[in-house]
Amino acid sequence: MTRVPPSPPSPPKPLHILFFFLFYTTVEFSGVSSQQFLTSERTTLLNLKQQWGNPPSLRDWNASSSPCNWTEVICNANGSVVLLDLISKGLTGPIPPFICDLRNLRDLDVTDNFLTGEFPKVLYNCSKLAEIDITRNAFVGRLPDDIDRLSGLKSIDVGVNNFTGNIPPAIGNLSELR
Ligand SMILES: *[C@@H]1O[C@H](CO)[C@@H](O)[C@H](O)[C@H]1NC(C)=O
Ligand SMILES: *[C@@H]1O[C@H](CO)[C@@H](O)[C@H](O)[C@H]1NC(C)=O
Ligand SMILES: *[C@@H]1O[C@H](CO)[C@@H](O)[C@H](O)[C@H]1NC(C)=O
Ligand SMILES: *[C@@H]1O[C@H](CO)[C@@H](O)[C@H](O)[C@H]1NC(C)=O
Ligand SMILES: *[C@@H]1O[C@H](CO)[C@@H](O)[C@H](O)[C@H]1NC(C)=O
Ligand SMILES: *[C@@H]1O[C@H](CO)[C@@H](O)[C@H](O)[C@H]1NC(C)=O
Repeated sequence: MTRVPPSPPSPPKPLHILFFFLFYTTVEFSGVSSQQFLTSERTTLLNLKQQWGNPPSLRDWNASSSPCNWTEVICNANGSVVLLDLISKGLTGPIPPFICDLRNLRDLDVTDNFLTGEFPKVLYNCSKLAEIDITRNAFVGRLPDDIDRLSGLKSIDVGVNNFTGNIPPAIGNLSELR
């Protein structure tokens, strides 16, 4: 009877090298993914900066850095913008409709700027928006009655603008409304 000779035990070194390789590949991959961002959203943010008068406060916003690295921006794990913290940045002009190209935008804070126009109904198109703060700007006119079209809204603060009329019942129970 012939027997197949047992195969020699695999030498430990290649296995060790394999683990070493996998370990470093994984670490490097997670490092890369934490820095990822959407080029289209960077373009949207740079257009917003332009629309808002190119204020010096946003000089770090340029076409060669990741928006997820900018102090005023928070991205989700996929590198998509979820929060804009633009308090006291010297922003001027209206809020443009293309802001909703930031499809995952959940929290918009533009407190203490010089933003103008009527209540920004363009935000109705930002489907993920849950928190809005437009306090201390130069908005005018009536707050719209159909403001509840912001269906995911959890909090809104519109104080210290030139809004006229009453607070619409649809948002009268949102705690942070002033
Ligand atoms: C772009 O902005 C980053 C900070 O966000 C800065 O470190 C870098 O120097 C800027 N690059 C250019 C070309 O302005
Ligand atoms: C983002 O910041 C990290 C850490 O400072 C840096 O290593 C990376 O190069 C930056 N990415 C871009 C595209 O600016
Ligand atoms: C990231 O993208 C994947 C695939 O599109 C999706 O399943 C996941 O929910 C996203 N994560 C976040 C935090 O949006
Ligand atoms: C709403 O936003 C989408 C992209 O996010 C855009 O294609 C559409 O034209 C916008 N609609 C309005 C009414 O602004
Ligand atoms: C807001 O109202 C005040 C007082 O009526 C007025 O002086 C100011 O010019 C108004 N501002 C805007 C942006 O309409
Ligand atoms: C707030 O009021 C609206 C309409 O009156 C109602 O649909 C909604 O459920 C209320 N939200 C909370 C948190 O009570």
